[in-house]
Amino acid sequence: MTTDAHELVRTLEALKDEALKALEAADSEESLEAWRVAYLGRKEGRLTLAMRSLGKLAPEARPAAGVAANQVKTALEEGLARHQQALKERALERLATEQRLDVTLPGRPLLLGRLHPTTQTLREVLAAFTAMGFQVVEGPEVEWDRYNFELLNIPRGHPARDMWDTLWIDYTDANGERPMLLRTHTSPMQARVMEKTQPPVRVVVPGKVYRYEATDATHEWHFHQVEGLAVDEGITFANLKATLYEFARRIFGPERRVRFRCDYFPFVEPGVDMAMDCFICKGQGTVKGAPCRVCKETGWIEIMGAGMVHPRVLEMVGYDPKRYTGFAFGIGVERVAMLKHGIDDIRHFYANDVRFLRQF
Ligand code: PHE
Repeated sequence: MTTDAHELVRTLEALKDEALKALEAADSEESLEAWRVAYLGRKEGRLTLAMRSLGKLAPEARPAAGVAANQVKTALEEGLARHQQALKERALERLATEQRLDVTLPGRPLLLGRLHPTTQTLREVLAAFTAMGFQVVEGPEVEWDRYNFELLNIPRGHPARDMWDTLWIDYTDANGERPMLLRTHTSPMQARVMEKTQPPVRVVVPGKVYRYEATDATHEWHFHQVEGLAVDEGITFANLKATLYEFARRIFGPERRVRFRCDYFPFVEPGVDMAMDCFICKGQGTVKGAPCRVCKETGWIEIMGAGMVHPRVLEMVGYDPKRYTGFAFGIGVERVAMLKHGIDDIRHFYANDVRFLRQF
């Protein structure tokens, strides 16, 4: 070996000793990185510079010096890897002792939320009607007496007001009357839609409604309805039946039975209630000899009121009742969900018990 080569090998050895000593002092990620740049850095690293000078040696001196240089490089790289690993282990140990955290435990699964059964049913009901050409509109839950009652042919003092006991807003107008309430049904939107548009009208209105009501297995003080309204020239009761039959088939399948009976609502004439056979007692009225409390022994559950829009209602919003006819319906969404899933008590819906909600 030439003198130059001997010198280079000595330099390399000295560099190695110095570097490994400096490595002992590096006790953080940043100082390890600084060390790496100082010795092994690709541009200015001291080992890199030393190796570059290999090129200046006489060709026959290069191999031996090269071997020495590579050994130094390997020693430095291994030293670095060892220190990085030790640093990592120390950090984990610190986490475990200082923070009492066992990082080897499996992670906790994230809880996935889901749609409330009312929301799911609401969407299914709306999808059935939008497929038949109905548009979805929404309206206020705090409503004027005028829309909730008067424009629906239920003037002040009319005995039909007793059908909907409700919660009044504590606000008195100039006449000393309380004109504002939590809507008892989605029907006020019939008048609101007709006031703003001309026939043909085909809308469904989803929303919350409120009743001052003693609760039981089929009655809640707050629940959801989907109102429907279709007004045009030549609409008949046959259109009403066809539309609601189609709804029942889409939501409940062909096996469920449907019943229409005469009913009274001041804003329709004639008025009907639509019922389906009771899903608990299968229409028998009794379960294992005991009275069925869901259908109250009748074998049927009413899911909506419906009828032909009363001519006075059309008149009050400025439609010509000689030219236009229409039908309207109001569906109880929770009752539909109960039918679909065999839920025996409407009070489950808003009890916020995850054991119930997780089933949907
Ligand atoms: N609004 C009525 C109720 O809540 C239901 C209904 C709607 C009846 C439309 C007829 C027509 O009881």
